[in-house]
Amino acid sequence: MDGKKYKILIVCLGNICRSPAAEEVLRQLVAERGLANRIEIDSAGTYGGHSGQLPDQRMRVHARRRGYELTHRARRITGYDMGDFDMIVAMDDANRIDLERLARTPEEKRKIVMIGDYITQNPHYDYVPDPYYEGSEGFELALDLLEDACVQLLNKIMTKIK
Ligand code: 4NP
Repeated sequence: MDGKKYKILIVCLGNICRSPAAEEVLRQLVAERGLANRIEIDSAGTYGGHSGQLPDQRMRVHARRRGYELTHRARRITGYDMGDFDMIVAMDDANRIDLERLARTPEEKRKIVMIGDYITQNPHYDYVPDPYYEGSEGFELALDLLEDACVQLLNKIMTKIK
């Protein structure tokens, strides 16, 4: 172990609903396993229209009910991020396509993983759908999928930092 943290960037479209929620879900799991000094987590959006904003009020309310305080400030992903982070997690196919476009090398492209590959509890979803234009149930679904997927994702990450 060289003291350098393993860096994970979670990406969605606006960086105000899914990815800031995923960031906090994963951060809580990392803290519970005593890995906070080994793993660094951030999030970003492929679209910059909400840059600087706190997460969507609706997502903050739904997340808070489950014990997650969302305080991230939205930012747009940059080409630098593709080099800087070790793993880049996309919420859906549109995110993946945007990230593949941003990747400058095959190595950077290989960093991209799909959150859907880690969903185990809901056979109807292999991605986390955008709740922005949905009602309460869309936010609850996103959080259900993220709580499941982040457990499996962290298991995967632990194999990489061993
Ligand atoms: P997110 O949700 O990608 O989960 O943060 C969205 C937020 C904003 C928009 C779309 C999706 N928007 O078009 O403004």
